[in-house]
Amino acid sequence: MKALILVGGFGTRLRPLTLSVPKPLVEFANKPMILHQIEALKEIGVTEVVLAINYQPEVMLNFLKEFEAKLGIKITCSQETEPLGTAGPLALARDKLIDDSGEPFFVLNSDVISEYPLKEMIEFHKAHGGEASIMVTKVDEPSKYGVVVMEESTGKVERFVEKPKIFVGNKINAGIYLLNPSVLNRIELRPTSIEKEVFPKIAADKQLYGMVLPGFWMDIGQPRDYITGLRLYLDSLRKKSSSRLATGPHVVGNVLVDETAKIGDGCLIGPDVAIGPGCVVESGVRLSRCTVMRGVRIKKHACISSSIIGWHSTVGQWARVENMTILGEDVHVCDEIYSNGGVVLPHKEIKSSILKPEIVM
Ligand code: GDD
Ligand code: MG
Repeated sequence: MKALILVGGFGTRLRPLTLSVPKPLVEFANKPMILHQIEALKEIGVTEVVLAINYQPEVMLNFLKEFEAKLGIKITCSQETEPLGTAGPLALARDKLIDDSGEPFFVLNSDVISEYPLKEMIEFHKAHGGEASIMVTKVDEPSKYGVVVMEESTGKVERFVEKPKIFVGNKINAGIYLLNPSVLNRIELRPTSIEKEVFPKIAADKQLYGMVLPGFWMDIGQPRDYITGLRLYLDSLRKKSSSRLATGPHVVGNVLVDETAKIGDGCLIGPDVAIGPGCVVESGVRLSRCTVMRGVRIKKHACISSSIIGWHSTVGQWARVENMTILGEDVHVCDEIYSNGGVVLPHKEIKSSILKPEIVM
């Protein structure tokens, strides 16, 4: 079985992190986002993953070569010369997706995180016999997503409306699809949107079915959702393999610490924290609801909450970093600084406090 992951897009909403690496390579819970997906695909028997890519392909390819061997799965690229949207890339990769088996293939948005119930999806797809299946999930704010109106009992989709201005329903497209090869006959090789141009037509032909996704789901392509997503992910990890979570007197709630990270005395860490490889957290530090990427140093008595600290940054002694502060790669926050929602571009030194949410260039 094959799968295509939509990897394009500039990831502007996750800047400044995406100024350093393409969005799919930004770590989530200490693992690049895209690896969560590739591993889930491998687990249900997918043998080849096609990355539909239009931005920094060499970076992605170099990185994933290592995992191709490690995971025993073929990873190839289908490179666009201009962004083809969310459907055009499927037409471009047509020959890679179709083989003699006539099997359906998976398509995934690269920035969604869930328990990936892909086995269940295959069963669902076989049972309804339509051309296409999409996972749907309920959200409070459906206007940011593709809204799916479907028949409760069968899952048959009646309407698909991308980013509706008026309320149509609260079940949304989770960005995980299983498509028959025939769907490719509906897509032209040009910039085009699967949500706006393809799904509405398949729905009108009564060939599109929605499966309500069991478990948690989050599009982690924006800082606030990324932080919420980490909470949901760690909750789920607690239920499935709690031995991977940190324990000890300095831990509260769900905390993930890479084995190469060093944690000093008298820290209080959690809930909902991920600490990456090679990090040094000095004594007396307080961390909650945050992600600390590879190689970060957090000095004594600093306090960080609801924030993301980019690779190889440092946070000074007694500094207080909070409220969706996002530090890019290699940012240095001086001692005793306060950051309230600062979004700081890579390689900056922060010498004076950031009192209200703003971008620091
Ligand atoms: N190859 C390629 N080329 N990929 C692209 C392009 C492109 O031109 N444009 C976007 N993508 C990829 C993105 O990298 C992402 O993985 C996926 O397509 C969806 O794009 P986003 O920019 O993340 O869309 P969204 O989050 O606003 O909305 C989409 O996801 C929602 C769920 O998270 C839609 O599919 C919605 O219907 C859905 O509800
Ligand atoms: Mg998205």
